[in-house]
Amino acid sequence: MDPERLPCVKAAKREGEHIRQALLARGLLRTDAKISSDEQFIYLPLSRPLPEVELRELGIDELTTREFVIAGKRKRIEELLGFKPAFEVVGDIAVLTEAVDQSQEAAVADAIMALHRNIKVVAKRVSAVENVFRTRRLVTIAGEYRTETLHTENACRFMLDLETVYFNPRLAGERRRIATQAAQTGKPEEVIDMFAGVGPFTIQIAKRAPLSHITAIDINPEAIRYLTANLKLNRVENVDAIVGDVKEIYTRFSNTADRIIMNLPKSAYLFLREALSMLKPEGGIIHFYGLESAYAEEAVEKKTRGEALARVIELAKERLVTSVEDLGAEFAGYSLYIQRARKVKAYAPYAYIVGVDAEMRRDTLTRRHINPLYVPQQHRP
Ligand SMILES: C[S@@+](CC[C@H](N)C(=O)[O-])C[C@H]1O[C@@H](n2cnc3c(N)ncnc32)[C@H](O)[C@@H]1O
Repeated sequence: MDPERLPCVKAAKREGEHIRQALLARGLLRTDAKISSDEQFIYLPLSRPLPEVELRELGIDELTTREFVIAGKRKRIEELLGFKPAFEVVGDIAVLTEAVDQSQEAAVADAIMALHRNIKVVAKRVSAVENVFRTRRLVTIAGEYRTETLHTENACRFMLDLETVYFNPRLAGERRRIATQAAQTGKPEEVIDMFAGVGPFTIQIAKRAPLSHITAIDINPEAIRYLTANLKLNRVENVDAIVGDVKEIYTRFSNTADRIIMNLPKSAYLFLREALSMLKPEGGIIHFYGLESAYAEEAVEKKTRGEALARVIELAKERLVTSVEDLGAEFAGYSLYIQRARKVKAYAPYAYIVGVDAEMRRDTLTRRHINPLYVPQQHRP
């Protein structure tokens, strides 16, 4: 068959596998085209060109085009079905992320399994993310009847059951970013992952920053059971895994942490007091995830997606600052420095999960508790 010129990601070889996985999870990899490489780079063929915003989200630096050998006569899914179903891949399970007509489900599942030989189960969502464990109900529509799988992300492996624990493969880039940041300090840090799930943040930090120690907490016993298994799977020892409601157990960790991860976007604000009181007396870093929407804002319909996103990022920073302010005297004498804020993923029209990295630092220049917060001028809205 003649080679075909396709848009592709040009990635340094050491980055290739995690980018391949991220593209695969989003259905963006042309799996019928043979991946090619030269001495330094790997070229990953895409099913469509990626706009700037998606490139940033995936942490991709360079897009190019290149000739690829197309394997056999494999067709694209839209050629087989006449439309492109939305699905994400976790391990060997494909989950339809948008409902398809029930009469078409079997055909969709067959097409996915025919084109992606690694997929052994196709499932659909039958509930929203619900309850304190943030899980959702699934129904398998083809393949094996199971929801447990082994997923690889950024060279770490995670056993998990998609029905009994929370897991989102779209956070792979975000988790790599945070793990890289933790590793870059080069210091042995005490890290607390307040809402750890099956351990994707915990284990990636533990591997990349082996001198650090991580306390991983989750209220869902199943999540901690998988996290404990995943520690062994990834040969990680610098972690303590704890089942519990962080609101009830946080005092055990008062004044201990250099870095805290708060990945509970719908209600992380309700846990700020606990998070800040677990930081060391001199302060530390929080990685905060919030769900923000510009939908209700005046004239939002006139905003472009880019403008809505910029507004949402400002809202997230403002809300974090005012929420800490609202905690009052307890944290007087400290300043909050917003370091970075970015979109982590789209949630709904005009609504995004926003990640904010902030540093809480004890004021050393003044002993007076005048202003508990300091946001550098350039970050003020
Ligand atoms: C959005 S998930 C994030 C999981 C993980 N960080 C990840 O990236 O996959 C939030 C997790 O917080 C846990 N959780 C919810 N409320 C909690 C609480 N009060 N204390 C501890 N964990 C809690 C849930 O069980 C769930 O696993």
